[in-house]
Amino acid sequence: MAAGPIRSVKTAFVTGCSSGIGLRTCLALAQDGYEVYGSMRDEAKDGPLREAAAKAGADVTVVPLDLRREDSIDGAAGRVLEMSGGVDVLVNNAGYGHFGTAEETPVDDFRAQFEVNLFGLVSLTQKVLPSMRAKKAGRIINMGSVAGRMGLPGSPAYISSKFALEGLTECLRYELEPFGIQATIIEPGVVKTPFFSSMKITEPKEPEYQKMMNHIMSGLQMMVSMGTDPGAVASVVIKALHDTEMLPRYHAGADAAMFMEAKSSRTDMEFERYMKREVLSR
Ligand SMILES: NC(=O)c1ccc[n+]([C@@H]2O[C@H](COP(=O)([O-])OP(=O)(O)OC[C@H]3O[C@@H](n4cnc5c(N)ncnc54)[C@H](OP(=O)(O)O)[C@@H]3O)[C@@H](O)[C@H]2O)c1
Repeated sequence: MAAGPIRSVKTAFVTGCSSGIGLRTCLALAQDGYEVYGSMRDEAKDGPLREAAAKAGADVTVVPLDLRREDSIDGAAGRVLEMSGGVDVLVNNAGYGHFGTAEETPVDDFRAQFEVNLFGLVSLTQKVLPSMRAKKAGRIINMGSVAGRMGLPGSPAYISSKFALEGLTECLRYELEPFGIQATIIEPGVVKTPFFSSMKITEPKEPEYQKMMNHIMSGLQMMVSMGTDPGAVASVVIKALHDTEMLPRYHAGADAAMFMEAKSSRTDMEFERYMKREVLSR
């Protein structure tokens, strides 16, 4: 992939910008002085981003990207690299959730979940890294979740994809250090975005699972209504970029901080009991 001209303005490439955290991260980066490229699967859905950008006086270039397709990943990376001359910050934000128990969720839905939340992300990162290595600088910010730090019933496909992203990010930190490239993972709790209405669902058949899923769904609805604003997650992305040395991970939202504190101060067994008693039984 040919590198374009060298520019002094830093370039950020954010995936999944049609709504939610990605949209707000694009705005925050533009306001922080970055030249921003934001991806979405369907460019015709750029209305909310364009409107918000116009309101904020921000400029964002939209590129099409579907993380399920290698040709699309290739095309998006190529276009951004050609237009920008090199990516300084890659925010791997795009992702979706699948709701359904481990026993009843078809393995193909597990695969689809990993295709977007992990494999597509790996492929895009591989395509952007040579431009970062050439500059001996770069930042990779992966959008994880507190769900990548603790198992819960009802969405094992999603949760295991986010656990995998935690592992990948830790590996990247060691591997990329010699090239002056830093990586981190952001761990939001529940954020008020279209994420939950876009979730794919495997309807439970087994009565015990039906009971479990209904209970989780109603608990989740309550948590979403009290969820963190996506702008707060975007602020954590900016904070990470302002840190000279990015931390391995950053929480986003009061619920995330509370869960992580509860986890780090307990043994695994104590934490499981705490979750059953304080969270899952409500
Ligand atoms: N909301 C939460 O509570 C929460 C909590 C923790 C972590 N997160 C993570 O934050 C990230 C952003 O989620 P969000 O809450 O902002 O939800 P969102 O508003 O639904 O945004 C998800 C974005 O990902 C894109 N996307 C989905 N499938 C894609 C694919 N195959 N290829 C390319 N892009 C795809 C969507 O694009 P389309 O418009 O094309 O569908 C959309 O722009 C996700 O990785 C999610 O796991 C969210």
